[in-house]
Amino acid sequence: MTLKIIPRDPARPDFAGEVQGIDLRKKLTPAEVKAVADGMDHYAVLVFRDQDIDDDQQFAFSCNFGPMEKATGDIAAPQDRRLSMDIGDISNLDKNGKVLARDDRRRLFSLGNQLWHSDSSFKPTPAKYSALSARKIPESGGNTEFADMRAAWDTLDQETRDLVRDMVTVHSQIFSRGVLGFTDFTDEERVKWAPVRHRLVRRHESSGRLSLYLSAHIGGIEGWPVPEARALLRDLTEHATQRQFVYAHVWRPHDLVMWDNRAMMHRARRYDATEVRDLHRTTNADSAPTLEQPGP
Ligand code: OGA
Ligand code: MN
Repeated sequence: MTLKIIPRDPARPDFAGEVQGIDLRKKLTPAEVKAVADGMDHYAVLVFRDQDIDDDQQFAFSCNFGPMEKATGDIAAPQDRRLSMDIGDISNLDKNGKVLARDDRRRLFSLGNQLWHSDSSFKPTPAKYSALSARKIPESGGNTEFADMRAAWDTLDQETRDLVRDMVTVHSQIFSRGVLGFTDFTDEERVKWAPVRHRLVRRHESSGRLSLYLSAHIGGIEGWPVPEARALLRDLTEHATQRQFVYAHVWRPHDLVMWDNRAMMHRARRYDATEVRDLHRTTNADSAPTLEQPGP
């Protein structure tokens, strides 16, 4: 079977495609790598179904698309990690495979994924692609939603476009967790997650499309009073996450979903804290800090 990509929703032919006719357990051919990369440029979210892969196969797949990012975004101590530093642990499990207690600090921290965000926007060079592989999925809930930040820009009124075009925002995990009332960071974590600056409006390297680079990690806009900045950011986020810009992925085991963090926000939805939810993430780093990339 040859590779084919079809839109998940025919009404949105440039957003969220499903890739058919590919086996991610095998080394991809150069033609397959190009088709997936072109698909990402066009759809920004790609769904691959029935891909029963292990961590090594997932890592090898992601390596086709550029340098990899290490999984340094969580608060697990090295001796408590369940997975290698090449794999983001997007689960509610401890290193023995036991479901984390409801009030476990790691679980409470990871609830930040339920806020609309872009991966690693708290790093000086943020994430390009994330690839999330579903290993175990709860009976109900726990969808992942994606919001198309290109559509958000395209539908923004001219006055707001002019207002935000050259804005610089400040991102930190301290801000995103603070939104949920999680504030007990160690001094070491506060140093590690010192705020970083990014463009608010980005130009996509390959497609040339502009997008709003929003994320729950943003705590302010340079040159703006904090309350005024946060009110504007909230307003922009409301605009950007209207239902017509959102694709909700309902997981099946062995799904792999890959998205372009330069053009999408995403969030996890709630699920029962006693059920196992186990997803593994591989992440490509972006090419440079956003302010060193061509702007809008
Ligand atoms: C992630 C993430 C959302 C989810 O993997 O980066 O935010 O639904 N995941 O688990
Ligand atoms: Mn994420």
